[in-house]
Amino acid sequence: AHQWRGVIAEYADRLPAHVQERVITLGEGGTPLVDAWYLSERTGAHVRLKVEGMNPTGSFKDRGMTTAISAAAGRGAQAVVCASTGNTSASAAAYATAAGMTCAVLVPDGKIAMGKLSQAVAHGARLLQVDGNFDDCLIAARKLAEAYPVELVNSVNPDRIQGQKTGAFEVVDALGDAPDVHVLPVGNAGNITAYWAGYTEYAASGPASRTPAMWGFQAAGAAPIVLGHPVTEPETVATAIRIGNPASWDQAVAARDGSGGLIESVTDEEILDAHRVLAARCGVFVEPASAAGVAGLLRLADEGRVPAGAQIVVTVTGHGLKDPQWALRTADGSEVEPVRVPAEAMAIASALELA
Ligand code: F0G
Repeated sequence: AHQWRGVIAEYADRLPAHVQERVITLGEGGTPLVDAWYLSERTGAHVRLKVEGMNPTGSFKDRGMTTAISAAAGRGAQAVVCASTGNTSASAAAYATAAGMTCAVLVPDGKIAMGKLSQAVAHGARLLQVDGNFDDCLIAARKLAEAYPVELVNSVNPDRIQGQKTGAFEVVDALGDAPDVHVLPVGNAGNITAYWAGYTEYAASGPASRTPAMWGFQAAGAAPIVLGHPVTEPETVATAIRIGNPASWDQAVAARDGSGGLIESVTDEEILDAHRVLAARCGVFVEPASAAGVAGLLRLADEGRVPAGAQIVVTVTGHGLKDPQWALRTADGSEVEPVRVPAEAMAIASALELA
């Protein structure tokens, strides 16, 4: 029986040697590509979900963290730092502690989902809540890493992109070729950069005959790439992508234009609708930011802009358990209350309207 060995071992021939000297892995990658018949019906395309919440710390960040932390370990680094809206910090904390390193995380004040905070703390990170937003945190983390003996593991670290490109490899390996369209949420724009790198590499060297159109979606209140200028006070319920000045902005534009794709925005309402559709119709529980891609796909389908019969893969980036509060609110905003019943079959049957 074959056990998935993590992305560095599985894609050793496609990753740089310096990430392979001392491999730190938690078994990341190898995530499910789920056929989403409900979304296929809604869009007239063939839609599959790349469920990245199934990674060890519950988000796609683990693909890039295994390579970034392995590279740092290979160089003998003792400490790493990152700025984060939550998932990067959870991943960095887990991989750093597995490597025997210390990890400092800078998170924006009060805007981090509880699940992510508790992960960083559980894994022993030095957690600092910064008086500012994600963009302020990233500037501070970069300066810290320049001036002190601590390595930066945000996606501006090229080793992160190397690991994250394996998401595209897995899609092609599963489908036999690239899809027509790849859809994903865009925040700091590392992931769209990484998928595009993976798809172009596979198309240039054999496993794929073509590259997909890259469709990226930002939250409307945090949509600098769509607007064409930084957003000083980004705001969205999708806290993971509450980012006003993405570090990989130029690379995201290059992926969009080089692929014949698009980057547009979706409202918080559309994000929460897609979040509900994913959970209640597809059986896939994600955090709000992860629903931005599906929100965009559904909007484009409503506008008649989804090619009929297209092969479409949507990366859903993080697990719903990271930020579960959204499920406990109905579409009209009221709180979901459990129905209380006595421990009797008849009463339960009547509550379930079986009788
Ligand atoms: N989805 C989730 C769940 C995320 O956590 C992020 C980014 C994104 C999408 C966007 O990906 O930044 O590569 O464009 N989270 C970062 C963090 C910023 O700190 O965890 P991106």
